[in-house]
Amino acid sequence: MQKHPPEPFRIKMVEPIHLITREERQKAMLLAGYNLFSLKAQDVFIDLLTDSGTGAMSQHQWAAIMAGDESYAGASSYYRLKQTMQNIFGFEYFVPTHQGRAAENILSVILVKPGDIIPSNMHFDTTDANIRARGGNPANCVNKEAFIIHSSSPFKGNMDLEALEQLIRSTEPEQIPFGCITITNNAGGGQPVSLQNIKETAALYHRYGIPFFIDCCRYAENCYFIKQREPGYAEKSLLEIAHEIFSVADGAFMSAKKDAIVNIGGFLAMRDADLFQKVSNELILREGFVTYGGLAGRDLDAMAVGLLEGLEEEYLAYRTGQVAYLAQKLLDVGVPVIEPAGGHAVYIDAGNYLSHIPHQDFPGQALAAALYLEGGIRGVEIGSVMFAHPDPQTGKMNFPELELVRLAIPRRVYTQSHLDYVVEILTQLSRQKISIHGYRITYEPPLLRHFTAHFEPLG
Ligand SMILES: Cc1ncc(COP(=O)(O)O)c(C=O)c1O
Repeated sequence: MQKHPPEPFRIKMVEPIHLITREERQKAMLLAGYNLFSLKAQDVFIDLLTDSGTGAMSQHQWAAIMAGDESYAGASSYYRLKQTMQNIFGFEYFVPTHQGRAAENILSVILVKPGDIIPSNMHFDTTDANIRARGGNPANCVNKEAFIIHSSSPFKGNMDLEALEQLIRSTEPEQIPFGCITITNNAGGGQPVSLQNIKETAALYHRYGIPFFIDCCRYAENCYFIKQREPGYAEKSLLEIAHEIFSVADGAFMSAKKDAIVNIGGFLAMRDADLFQKVSNELILREGFVTYGGLAGRDLDAMAVGLLEGLEEEYLAYRTGQVAYLAQKLLDVGVPVIEPAGGHAVYIDAGNYLSHIPHQDFPGQALAAALYLEGGIRGVEIGSVMFAHPDPQTGKMNFPELELVRLAIPRRVYTQSHLDYVVEILTQLSRQKISIHGYRITYEPPLLRHFTAHFEPLG
């Protein structure tokens, strides 16, 4: 197999993109309060803000959209999705949701009480916030290797089982209504979790009677890494690996905007009939009837097809190869990135790259802003803007271990020359990085502040 296989598709529809001038970019940033989420997308040249909902759907998905059944209840689109869900995940019950956080919200509303603890390897921002919104405490038990930037460890998303057991033992059993694992670990470099670790995590939760849910929005990339890296799986199909993963879980929630390559969609799946009843009631209140969630029938059809396309080995070889290509090129020009490359994104170690900017001045935010100003590239800060929280007891700020800028690669969207351009811009930035300054927050909401905060440059 080639290291970076070419695209297993050709392009038959194109979307023009433009690089506006530096002066226009400066003006756009000022207007956006230096928050990249507030930019107009048309002012962005290469948009690596997220891989969520930004993929290019295939001709088969677009064809399936035309067959969407828009009946309010019992649409055939729902039954087509149900069959695919059964085929891949095998849970007895599921509801569609409009995206991942809707599933997280429903689960949290039903199961999380104030003071509860919800462990995971690492919760992503919306899961973290949905738990906090119900008074719960998200707890991250990822293994220490996740924080070592340069490492050849194949499964840096693994749960630290000792830390997890210690946490469970030091908590009242009824205070952990469910436990999670996120595959791949988006907040920690898009790193995969091994099947052995998933099984051991499931066994540990179950030993203490805790239901086990998988945040599986990038499960297909995780399956591909298991096949490549974990002894005993090279000859298994990705579908067989998926079966093995989900067979040990009590449920899963997914933002289908990732590995199902749709622009909108998600689900919450489970085995427990009582929980399904409660989930259905909550879904009807907030999202829609149980056979469509917050989606149109056509969205369910696009998802049913995309779930299978996202699990194709040829596609995943190209996709993970493309991410590895960008990571290697950046390392070649001296930009520190998390190694090995993750499944969906390259993570620049901004704390190290801009070591003259301390945590409290947001080095990740500074680098993300500089990338846009220099080359019209939009990445996202995954560091103190996103994850620093005051300690509930002392009020002292807890900063995350790493200050990262994530360059997420949308699925089937950008070519190698787009990625070469990103490398060129970072090479240019490296020559002048000492002149990059930090930022100060001038407005922030109480939860998920990175989406809407306003910033001011320091100096
Ligand atoms: C690991 C993980 N979980 C959950 C979500 C939330 O999904 P959504 O954006 O569809 O609400 C994301 C989105 O990026 C994610 O990466």
